[in-house]
Amino acid sequence: MNKKHQLIKGFSKQSKAAKLEWIANNYTPNPDETVEDMKGFWHADEKLQKVLDGFSENTISNYMMPYGIAPNFIINDKMYAVPMVIEESSVVAAAASAAKYWSNKGGFKAKILGTKKVGQVHFSWKGDSEKLFQHFENIKAVFHHDTEPITRNMRKRGGGILDIELLDYTDLEADYYQIRATFETCDSMGANFINSVLEAFGQSLKMYVIENDDFKGEEEKLTVIMAILSNFTPECVVRASVECPLEAFNINGKDNSAFAKKFEKAVKIARLDPYRATTHNKGIFNGIDAVVLATANDFRAIEACGHAYAARDGQYRSLSQCEIKDGKFRFWLDIPLAVGTVGGLTSLHPLAKRTLEILGNPSAEELMQVIAVVGLAQNFAALRSLVTTGIQKGHMKMHLQNILNHLEASEIEGKQIITYFENKTISFTAVREYLQSLRETLV
Ligand code: MEV
Repeated sequence: MNKKHQLIKGFSKQSKAAKLEWIANNYTPNPDETVEDMKGFWHADEKLQKVLDGFSENTISNYMMPYGIAPNFIINDKMYAVPMVIEESSVVAAAASAAKYWSNKGGFKAKILGTKKVGQVHFSWKGDSEKLFQHFENIKAVFHHDTEPITRNMRKRGGGILDIELLDYTDLEADYYQIRATFETCDSMGANFINSVLEAFGQSLKMYVIENDDFKGEEEKLTVIMAILSNFTPECVVRASVECPLEAFNINGKDNSAFAKKFEKAVKIARLDPYRATTHNKGIFNGIDAVVLATANDFRAIEACGHAYAARDGQYRSLSQCEIKDGKFRFWLDIPLAVGTVGGLTSLHPLAKRTLEILGNPSAEELMQVIAVVGLAQNFAALRSLVTTGIQKGHMKMHLQNILNHLEASEIEGKQIITYFENKTISFTAVREYLQSLRETLV
């Protein structure tokens, strides 16, 4: 270990400037430059910077990401321009291109298949299993009663606790039981609401065993292990789809049934091969994460759930499906999306607020539909490239600007390079060499 890298006490209590000094002095080769760079990203508006710092701990700077727009999305006959926050070149362009492609074919359709969220209280019970089940109806009534103050507002909004069940997992793990509850959380993602209710369930369960005569002397047999929502929400699902007559499914106006067949096959391959499925679904999440991030929703939860859902029958598969039948091309995506449009950071993050505004201040259900459609569009664009030109052509074209920036090419050099590589294969080395040759001819 480097001598400088000592344990530090009380780091979180230091000022932001002191934290930055410390990290720069102890972990970077050019502390002054590091401090200057990092400070360069502090927001000029101190009030806003305070809000941003409040999102996390030990902040020393802000991390910038591009915020782009994919226009021309027709979803259920309504036009959207969709904000996307993503660093990967070509993702927004691909989404926009897919949106345009489907705009004269009826656009995208989306429908909500369910909005149930899930939570669990995991506990050990070393006593009589049957007795637990016999009392469960009473325990449930106590749960509802004890959480009444927490659920009151949510119930007013049309949500709350939907169902509570007791599950016996003792065949898998000694003494292990679970309370599994489902919730409707309306326009909020609901994590805080669900976790508060679940923790209250845990307390109520303990009290029930302590106070009920039937369980006298058995308090020690119960241990509440943990109470937490589940990010697996297989009943909070949205379906996004496109369909058109087969002859309309073409590229550049050329009838191309071979294209349609290759496309369908590509999706089938991703349904059966987990290696391909992972990349295929990664492409879907390129779009999904970008919109989720732009709305300040929890993209880790969305990813975790999406991948678990993709493996729900025991094998990891493509989340999208494709069918050519009765002269029609159909392509669709079922995906669980537990997102909110109120609460959390959605209104605290200044740009998330703008994102929702651009989307017309949607309900959570409408946002689910938009996000799923962008995922499907992204998947469509990736597959269209993969089964025709290959992905690198478009990808490297978009990436060229990054290479130019990296090589510090001037504006004039950049223009020359873009023209030169119009019909050539782009690679970092090829661009560097060409730039060198340009500069040499000028000398
Ligand atoms: C790249 O970010 C995403 C793709 O690899 C997706 C796919 O292969 O379907 C192009």
